[in-house]
Amino acid sequence: MSHHHTHKKAKKGDGSHESHHEAHQLFRTHKSHNSSVAGHVKPPHKVPGIEVGPATGVIYIMDRAMANGYYYGNPEWSNLGQGAPEVGHIPGATPKPTSLNFEEFGEGIHEYAPTAGYKPLREAVADYYNREFRQGNKKKYGAENICIVPGGRAGLSRIAACLGKINVGYSVPVYSAYENTLGAFNSFVSIPNQTDEVHGYRVTPEQIDKEVKDRGLSCWLMSNPNNPTGTMMRGEELQRLVEVFKGRGATLIADEFYSWYDHEGPLGGAISAAEYVEDPNEDPIVLIDGLTKNWRCPGWRICWVVGPKELVSALAAAGSWSEGGASHPMQCLALQMMTADRCKQDRLALQKHFRMKRDHCLKRLASMGLEVKVPPQATFYIWVSLADLPPPINSGLTFAEEALKEKVCLTPGIFFDINPSKRRNIVDSPCEAFVRLSFGPPLEELDRGLDGIERLIKKAKSGHPDVGTNYKPHKEDEHHDNVHAAPSSGS
Ligand SMILES: Cc1ncc(COP(=O)(O)O)c(C=O)c1O
Repeated sequence: MSHHHTHKKAKKGDGSHESHHEAHQLFRTHKSHNSSVAGHVKPPHKVPGIEVGPATGVIYIMDRAMANGYYYGNPEWSNLGQGAPEVGHIPGATPKPTSLNFEEFGEGIHEYAPTAGYKPLREAVADYYNREFRQGNKKKYGAENICIVPGGRAGLSRIAACLGKINVGYSVPVYSAYENTLGAFNSFVSIPNQTDEVHGYRVTPEQIDKEVKDRGLSCWLMSNPNNPTGTMMRGEELQRLVEVFKGRGATLIADEFYSWYDHEGPLGGAISAAEYVEDPNEDPIVLIDGLTKNWRCPGWRICWVVGPKELVSALAAAGSWSEGGASHPMQCLALQMMTADRCKQDRLALQKHFRMKRDHCLKRLASMGLEVKVPPQATFYIWVSLADLPPPINSGLTFAEEALKEKVCLTPGIFFDINPSKRRNIVDSPCEAFVRLSFGPPLEELDRGLDGIERLIKKAKSGHPDVGTNYKPHKEDEHHDNVHAAPSSGS
């Protein structure tokens, strides 16, 4: 029996095992995974005392892409794996700032900024929440409720650094860095909750309430809108969720990085739990957002955490021993991004543009037999089920390897599962039959990528013997920081 034939027989539930799949073996033997493949022993690090920890899924897929000849900016490739929005001009948007006059800010701009952030920016962020979400609410957010952080992941790490010996719940699939960020601090226990396609990947306030009650959770961390499934809790449902946490005396941490990428609500609107917070200093509601996605400036590393002032003090203290805070000049520049006019205009432009890209991708996927059963309500991700495709391309890891042959990067679904590398058999992961497609890039790049996906499906359906095998070995000496490497990104 040929190797290829083995794949054809591999089907979930029929005894299929990851050891039958070349893509899965590559995954296990990557330097960032603690391999459990027989005969593969992770070699000691070249630098004494160093042990390389896990990397995010995006780093894995970028490494695999580089092994296949990709380099950042290669015009032949299409990067639908990395979770970043296009940063160039889009129709109707305000041009981005091109300079910052340091003189306007005096010599103080060279000083450390406070670890809670530059006060005028904290005020501008508080104004943003009051203006966009709390017009009808008497109690307003103030600078004391805002902590500026050098990126969303820095915000998550600061929060994690402040958590006690508690239980934290969250639903999966979810943003892969949660596992890494939360896992780096092992004082608390994280408890995943599976969502599924049948229920539209939804988890209701009532289910979360039950989780909190039954499992004694002190915190719930949610990506709302959700990366990677694109589901979102809004309106009255989101209000009920806020009430659950007030009632139970537990904390809701809402990651709202995609709050402008709403594809269903009225054009120009945005979603935030801030709308349902009654008292900013009393309600146990913590929000995270920043310039990374909504403002399309991932490289600025200017983000924020919003919450009761005692939380902000704790976060400031965590910043004092961890990263020391965001760049002072970039915080000054960020003031320009927070004006009411700019936010309004850019959000509208962004929604029109990304709704167009979303519809375009869904239509093209459907035409190649990849009907998306749960289309994204929000975000710029499509959680693509491969279940209807023939083996071996009904596996996310294999599909992604085949896509690399066509010069397309996609993120295998397992990276959004909880703790995939510790699973005995990857094939059993509920996320294994998925890939995440990012429609963050410009339309032209999306089409190039979709052309590649179309080619790979045709090739696989024709029974081509190259499918499922002939994958490039890992390039163990490739460094993430060399000139060809992709920039860091959240996935
Ligand atoms: C849900 C979610 N939260 C937070 C982040 C982190 O953003 P940053 O790139 O600023 O660290 C991302 C981006 O990748 C994300 O998808």
